[in-house]
Amino acid sequence: MTSKSLWADVDVMPAAGSLAEDVECDVVVVGSGIAGTSTAYEVCKRGKSVVIIDRGRIAGGMTSRTSAHLAPLCDDLVSEIKGSDATKLFCDSQAAIDRIEVIQEQEEIDCDFRRLDGYLFQGRDMTSDIIDQEMDAVREIGAPVHRLVGMPFNGCANRHVLRYPRQATFHPLKYLSGVARACRNNGVTFFRDSPVEEISEDNGIVLVRTTRGVIRAKHAVVATNSSISDRFAIHTKTAPYRTYVMAFEIKRNALPDALYWDTEEPYHYVRLQPGPDRIDYVLVGGEDHKSGEADDADERFKRLKAWARELISGLGRETHRWSGQVLDTIDYAGFIGQDPGCKNVYVAMGDSGQGLTHGVVGAILNTALIMGEDHPWKELYAPGRIPLKAAKNFVMENVTPVKSFAEYVAPGELHSLDDLRRGQGAIVRRGLEKIAAYRDEAGALHLNSASCSHVGCHLHWNSFETCWDCPCHGSMFDVKGQPINAPAVAPLDKR
Ligand SMILES: Cc1cc2nc3c(=O)[nH]c(=O)nc-3n(C[C@H](O)[C@H](O)[C@H](O)COP(=O)(O)OP(=O)(O)OC[C@H]3O[C@@H](n4cnc5c(N)ncnc54)[C@H](O)[C@@H]3O)c2cc1C
Ligand code: FES
Repeated sequence: MTSKSLWADVDVMPAAGSLAEDVECDVVVVGSGIAGTSTAYEVCKRGKSVVIIDRGRIAGGMTSRTSAHLAPLCDDLVSEIKGSDATKLFCDSQAAIDRIEVIQEQEEIDCDFRRLDGYLFQGRDMTSDIIDQEMDAVREIGAPVHRLVGMPFNGCANRHVLRYPRQATFHPLKYLSGVARACRNNGVTFFRDSPVEEISEDNGIVLVRTTRGVIRAKHAVVATNSSISDRFAIHTKTAPYRTYVMAFEIKRNALPDALYWDTEEPYHYVRLQPGPDRIDYVLVGGEDHKSGEADDADERFKRLKAWARELISGLGRETHRWSGQVLDTIDYAGFIGQDPGCKNVYVAMGDSGQGLTHGVVGAILNTALIMGEDHPWKELYAPGRIPLKAAKNFVMENVTPVKSFAEYVAPGELHSLDDLRRGQGAIVRRGLEKIAAYRDEAGALHLNSASCSHVGCHLHWNSFETCWDCPCHGSMFDVKGQPINAPAVAPLDKR
């Protein structure tokens, strides 16, 4: 089965065209995922003229690959960030879920939004220590949590569990379709298929350049998932991880509608999505690894499927499987606010697996900053912050670029291009250089430099998504060398 998410069939803004001339506005938003589209919504509601521009289709980035648990407390464990400034903020950022709830109500968006419980449960062959620690940490920040024993999964009657009331979930692209429609009704212009190549400032005006026109604005918000305006300051504090999801059919009411996580490493997550004719979908995900460090999606899906079939009774046909990338930050809070080194450019990036709520936090915070208001979350999310308490994570995550550059002296994966099968990609050495080689189904070779166009890390082949992944800061390139995920903006050098 090839990669396709459960949400992918929804076209969020079919009427959007591509940029064909220079444009002026108050605020330009680069990137149309949950962070960008939510920002456009908040800013236009404050009376600003807004343009939103995307490299691909509207909301076709990581938001179209999410699993859409709206539960910021349960994803990264609160006990892991205990004692840091961010701890209380995770509680406050629940306000992002409230904001989604209000918007879908006010704009009458039919997106399957519902409040439900989140459950964190003891993993197989594990003690209940994590559950104990987590309960203490969550109680310490004053968030509601309940301790119980037993889960509605096979063999889990004695597992220790935490229940978090009033979490939420929705269909992410149906929600963004409604938000985009509301934006358009408030005068926002959407441009798709318009890659931004450069963002600069000149005399207080921000210039967003594409090959087909320049957008001039008083402010820009860079919501490209991984920032394309900043080159180093933020990227050294984040690390990309790939995560995998499968959807299965299940009879309605066979499983209580809730959000589930276990405490295994890597962990598993589960949720339900309403389907047609009294059939729902169960989404099962996890098996995360650092981007580029494994190319074994089949094995990971096999393990996910076995885990799901063991625990969930009545699991039917598999309908979808896909993967995507999350950006973990070294102190678990996103980077939102004024771009270091810029005056009128703002960023929203770094999601730590809670990118949906972070995207909405970004929209609220960046809008306040653009309007010249102060905000209590400003320092906590400041992109230029140096999280001293997270120094260990900083060192751990920055081993990746060092390892990546060392790969340039290693041999290639194949001796000769003749060994490259149709549909296969591999790294081949040619003299001193490494080549990212792909042979398409018609037999034609596509040869590009294996050096990422962002800051030069060594690329890795991803056979499931048929693309080149960069392990350093999350760029991805298609088989022709075109960037398909930020922060890279330039194509790979042709060889
Ligand atoms: C499998 C999976 C499961 C997840 N589960 C959850 C979950 O349960 N809960 C949760 O909260 N989060 C979850 N996340 C994370 C969350 O989905 C993402 O963090 C979030 O959707 C990112 O939104 P975004 O707007 O920042 O980025 P995106 O949705 O990626 O949007 C960025 C946009 O910028 C555009 N862009 C990039 N470069 C350029 C350029 N040069 N020019 C113009 N446009 C550009 C892209 O095309 C893209 O459309 C999950 C992620 C994955 C992959
Ligand atoms: S993403 Fe930064 S070097 Fe590749």
